[in-house]
Amino acid sequence: MRDDQIEGIDYFVDLQPETEDFLATVLAGLSQQQKTIPPKFFYDANGSKIFDQICVAPEYYVTRTEIALMNEIAAEINALVELGSIVVEYGCGSSLKIRALLSALPDPAEYLAIDISRSHLIATVQEIAADYPNLRVGAICADFSDALNWPKEAAADRDQRLAFFPGSTIGNQTPEEARQFLERVRHLVGDSGNLLIGVDLKKDTDVLNNAYNDAAGHTAEFNLNLLHRIKHELGGLLDISAFEHDAFYNEDLGRIEMHLTSRLDQSIEIGGQQFNFQKGESIHTENSYKYSIDEFIELAGGSGFGSVKAWTDADDYFSIHYMAAI
Ligand code: TRP
Repeated sequence: MRDDQIEGIDYFVDLQPETEDFLATVLAGLSQQQKTIPPKFFYDANGSKIFDQICVAPEYYVTRTEIALMNEIAAEINALVELGSIVVEYGCGSSLKIRALLSALPDPAEYLAIDISRSHLIATVQEIAADYPNLRVGAICADFSDALNWPKEAAADRDQRLAFFPGSTIGNQTPEEARQFLERVRHLVGDSGNLLIGVDLKKDTDVLNNAYNDAAGHTAEFNLNLLHRIKHELGGLLDISAFEHDAFYNEDLGRIEMHLTSRLDQSIEIGGQQFNFQKGESIHTENSYKYSIDEFIELAGGSGFGSVKAWTDADDYFSIHYMAAI
């Protein structure tokens, strides 16, 4: 662990998250019966740029619905959150969301951001610190899905801890992984802690399918970026155009599945190993689980959080839950 001084913020803790071996992970994933590559490899510099474009695509209702809902319920959040709370954000994505929250808080005492990308983390917290001069701002560079302990630099006397986890990122884990993750969040915020979390709702299948198949092709490009990385960083021998983006709602499992599907019978070579594909065979790259309000409350209950209030937008597309440790 290293503590560095970063200009403009109060403290920075670097847990030096292991950068997982891309080659070894790809070789292991492609050796499984259902070929798989874990979604964390989507987010190189190019992938992050494409992701920003997904977030403003007309079919992708998730980001704009959540931000509008956050702003709509700001006064209610203000009434619920205790004065002097410290807000812990898991993965600092769109700073529009944290700004909506910070602006809604009763004179927030402290903001602590956790993110795996050091450069993205530093840039975000520096901007927030500059724009909220009365706010104490800290950062932990870490993989937020690892178990974390409370940093000694964070104001230890602040008992009110509020975890903030927007973007329906919880949906990218299986329900069992999500339950375990929320248990760790519950541990970090402690017995008087709270959780504010954005969760995408179950809805009409066409709306869901369109959201992950935008007409401009940003989601396809995001998915196919994995193959670009394999080709250029791992020297993979493959023809990217022999694969296509495939995203669909799996109603039985309540999730969007994203795959890279082979257009033909072919074999590719990575790190000296050959992988055979039949036409239509896929690499499974991500899930995005959708929950009803009650399903999510039940899931979080298994991790020690009880529902205080849940809000949805007028179309019932997206939900924001305020929860308390039980
Ligand atoms: N968590 C969001 C979702 O599941 C954002 C997201 C993560 C996403 N990976 C994605 C959106 C891949 C589109 C494609 O919707």
